[in-house]
Amino acid sequence: MPALVLLGAQWGDEGKGKATDLLGGSVDYVVRYQGGNNAGHTVVVGDQKYALHLLPSGILSPSCIPVIGNGVVVDPAVLLSELSGLNDRGVDTSKLLISGNAHLITSYHTTMDKVTERFLGSRKIGTTGRGIGPTYADKINRVGIRIQDLYDESILIQKVDAALDFKNQILAKLYNRRAIDSAKIVEELLTYADQLKPYVSDTTLVLNNAIDEGKVVLFEGGQGTLLDVDHGTYPFVTSSNPTAGGACTGAGVGPTKISRVIGILKAYTTRVGAGPFPTELFDEDGDALRRIGGERGVTTGRDRRCGWFDAVIARYATRVNGLTDFFLTKLDVLTGWEQIPVCVAYEIDGKRVEELPYSQTDFHHAKPIYEMLPGWSEDITKAKTFADLPKNAQAYVKALEEMSGAPISAIGVGPGRTETIQINSFL
Ligand code: GDP
Ligand code: IMO
Ligand code: MG
Repeated sequence: MPALVLLGAQWGDEGKGKATDLLGGSVDYVVRYQGGNNAGHTVVVGDQKYALHLLPSGILSPSCIPVIGNGVVVDPAVLLSELSGLNDRGVDTSKLLISGNAHLITSYHTTMDKVTERFLGSRKIGTTGRGIGPTYADKINRVGIRIQDLYDESILIQKVDAALDFKNQILAKLYNRRAIDSAKIVEELLTYADQLKPYVSDTTLVLNNAIDEGKVVLFEGGQGTLLDVDHGTYPFVTSSNPTAGGACTGAGVGPTKISRVIGILKAYTTRVGAGPFPTELFDEDGDALRRIGGERGVTTGRDRRCGWFDAVIARYATRVNGLTDFFLTKLDVLTGWEQIPVCVAYEIDGKRVEELPYSQTDFHHAKPIYEMLPGWSEDITKAKTFADLPKNAQAYVKALEEMSGAPISAIGVGPGRTETIQINSFL
């Protein structure tokens, strides 16, 4: 069972950090393959809480080698401050490997992210403002700066010039902003070169060798399936591929090497930023989910939009990722409701629809069709086995499993590492 992908099955914040950390002690490598510091992954170990943005959650497991793959976009200032923050708390980060092909987020990318959002006004995406979209845009436009460019000053100067020539025209003429001085950018980037050097390596080679030697490699997704630039609710998405295929391109590992794909699935639904969300609640139930679930963004501190579980989305995640398992998180948050609505299908223009519509217009018109499942009031946070759960909680899990198209192999009943019911082993 050498290579597993662990990814978000909804709109992000499903609990990927906790799930990755849980597996961290039993795997040899944990790899981020896309996204950047738009991610906020929370890991709770004993009384210690960590918020990881760019570093793979496996960094907290001493035996595990953390890897930042070529598909990730790296803000070097954020990376270095995250590393030093962990070092200050006694975490050894010396084993980190970073792909030399990963693209750099520079200050002009964060500037472009913010001015573009402002320019869009009411049509904005609600990005995290971390420069993610503009950095991926430069990558695809072939004017990006890669980590390896830090080690050839003349190439770096040429590339930053090429990237800024065009952007400065836009900044000055369209956004009425001052042009960015390319020499200053180069000077700043060069200050990171020596600090990053010990970590930079050919991660594709390392990971393929590891898999061939039978080592266990875990790919940790950022964001989630519905935020995928190809398979999500475009244009209200991030600019990378969190879905399973992204692990292959974002780490340089072929699909034949991936043996298992685990979808992290919240027992209800949340979303941050703009875009359609059929089961969103605007009433006291939504407020209660937000309050009890602590649904506030780890990266931006924004309140998360909350709603009931949506089985149409879960089925879609199974389909586009080829999920083999689900890890259902935050079941404990639903304790106390007499009845829990679950969206089993949509009504779109008077018709019942069982699968996620490919048309954006249809999805915007989708109204949830709910089935009511009986709730439970017993505290489930101490449950260690499926049998420890109240009958109605068991029935809720079984119903979700049936609707979602893949076995639920683990259940989260609290934020801590040990607050997990393992039904089938992931390894
Ligand atoms: P990620 O981005 O997918 O890693 O998720 P976040 O860390 O942004 O948000 C998930 C939140 O839920 C964090 O505060 C976690 O500590 C917390 N969490 C994860 N699993 C559980 C669970 O099973 N129960 C409860 N109550 N909290 C959980
Ligand atoms: P984790 O890994 C939830 C959302 C933003 C916005 C959209 C585009 O913690 O699950 P971007 O800055 O990526 O260009 O913003 O994507 N978004 C997330 N939502 N969890 C995340 O990460 C997210 N990363 C980006 O809110 O709607
Ligand atoms: Mg998060």
